[in-house]
Amino acid sequence: MEIKKVGVVGCGLMGHGIVQVAAQGGCEVIALETEQGFLDKGLGRVDKSLAKLASKNVEKGKMDQATADAWVAETRGRISGSTNRADLADCDLIIEAIVENLDVKKELFAELGGIAKPEAIFASNTSSFPIGEMASASGRPGRFVGLHFFNPVQLMRLVEVVRTDDTDADAFDAARAFGKACGKTPVSCKDTPGFVVNRLLVPYMVQAIDMLDRGDASKEDIDAAMQFGCGHPMGPLTLTDYVGLDTTLFILEGWTSRYPNEPAFKIPESLKRLVSEGKLGRKTGEGYYKWEGDKKA
Ligand code: 3HC
Repeated sequence: MEIKKVGVVGCGLMGHGIVQVAAQGGCEVIALETEQGFLDKGLGRVDKSLAKLASKNVEKGKMDQATADAWVAETRGRISGSTNRADLADCDLIIEAIVENLDVKKELFAELGGIAKPEAIFASNTSSFPIGEMASASGRPGRFVGLHFFNPVQLMRLVEVVRTDDTDADAFDAARAFGKACGKTPVSCKDTPGFVVNRLLVPYMVQAIDMLDRGDASKEDIDAAMQFGCGHPMGPLTLTDYVGLDTTLFILEGWTSRYPNEPAFKIPESLKRLVSEGKLGRKTGEGYYKWEGDKKA
């Protein structure tokens, strides 16, 4: 099955990036939001990102200005927006990138199950919830996969493609091929908590926060240690701010309630406190660090 038309539900931090890379990969894309204002904001981010990528390509001599302008216009021309779920009826693939709340996701997939054409593939971009539970809610477990992209979607080169025991082989292969078309390296994962990346990354972030909370080292030194000692592009506390403290907490709350005996899954005190104070990281201007726009203050 070839994926030509894609619906992306949610045009926020992750969703707008997925909309963009799918369009860059040649698909026709419908971005779905609950309100026109959210849609405008998400598509505005796509415009900014496309402009940035185009000007970089010109700077590096990979494209001349006219080719870059045509590339932006063609890519953007493949993207439309809607606030009506029924508009996704003829999509080949529908990717969910909404709030990290399992009940809300299940409700969405149950409704999409009645809207989308029977052969359409459903995918969730969840960081941590079981794909199988959403697959059952959708009423089409054979046509369901996880497609887990990374932030910022436009730049990170990985997509995790998650299969359950019920996923049809052709749906899985089509999802992997779609990931490649988006310019990503797909890795195949089973439906386990956090798949590959977050199962390793989130406990590492927790260890860094605990280290800070115990006063073992300053946040700047913890980050510098991993950045310059291990060659990571950003240290773990900067990365927690980048991912979002609320998202990190959602993941950990889900895991600690589902797997209470797994010692790697624990919630650091400062994470709970900062989220309760509305300090969610880069997106709110403060988390473990203070932020001004995209940069640390
Ligand atoms: N679109 C287009 N261009 C973008 C962009 C976007 N969305 N975001 C950043 N850029 C551009 C920047 O503007 C910058 O351009 P310039 O060189 O012309 O100024 C360029 O990309 C590089 O960005 P920065 O200057 O900000 O600096 P870096 O070289 O540090 O790159 C980074 C930024 C790619 C984010 C890098 O720091 C990085 O790889 N960080 C780690 C990110 C990571 O680990 N992500 C995974 C998080 S886990 C996750 O997502 C899973 C979830 O489920 C929790």
